Amino acid sequence: MLKLGVNIDHVATLREARYRGMNHGEPDPVEAALIAEEAGATGITAHLREDRRHIVDRDIRRLRDSIRTPLNLEMAIVPEIIEIALAVKPYIVCLVPEKRTEVTTEGGLDVVGSEVLIRETCTRMRDAGIRVSLFIDPDPRQVEASARTGAEFIELHTGAYAEAFDQKRERNVEIERLVAASKLAHGLGLNVNAGHGLNVRNLPLIHVVPHLIELNIGHSIISRAVFVGLPTAIREILAAMAGYKG
Ligand code: PXP
Repeated sequence: MLKLGVNIDHVATLREARYRGMNHGEPDPVEAALIAEEAGATGITAHLREDRRHIVDRDIRRLRDSIRTPLNLEMAIVPEIIEIALAVKPYIVCLVPEKRTEVTTEGGLDVVGSEVLIRETCTRMRDAGIRVSLFIDPDPRQVEASARTGAEFIELHTGAYAEAFDQKRERNVEIERLVAASKLAHGLGLNVNAGHGLNVRNLPLIHVVPHLIELNIGHSIISRAVFVGLPTAIREILAAMAGYKG
């Protein structure tokens, strides 16, 4: 069964819109995580950004102590956040590139260009008992470099596919890139996750990408939840994921 990691960052985005800098406020991303688990999420994902624009340090500690499913901590490779990850010990970290001016994670990690740093980070995480995933574009060079770092997982960036969804030719090119990258990664012994920009409309075509273990989905679920509630939004996504053959 294809797993669903629910990204709860945007619950914190809403909280910070009113309660920025305070140690409390609603809506609570931890409560969202517990509701998501109840509705069928098989994991919870949260991105502790350097600028703390949504998730803040206390959220990560509370998530670790409260949720029953694995915690996937998305993070940039910067010393401060690495130390937090090593102290909190999430089930897995997903290493992502981070730019202060971006609205959300834009491209994948340049594993080719930062192979040594990423390998060192993988070793530190592994020594602390934390699995590592690398968020990369579906590019064969990045997949091959990822396999050399010692990371157990990659997460294929589906943002370009989601952006191209309404143009059939471009969409098919992006699907082919995802299929090829997933096959290559699987052949190299990597576990393959995917995410970014996925929603109930574009999810059905993702079924042609083989070897996927988990999808990480945030924005579309939280947006839909505003109208129909979080459990219904999650069940709609799970229905769109059902029947995945791998
Ligand atoms: N995976 C990674 C690595 C991400 O950075 C994000 C966005 O935070 C997601 C998945 C989820 O993307 P979306 O919010 O578009 O579903």
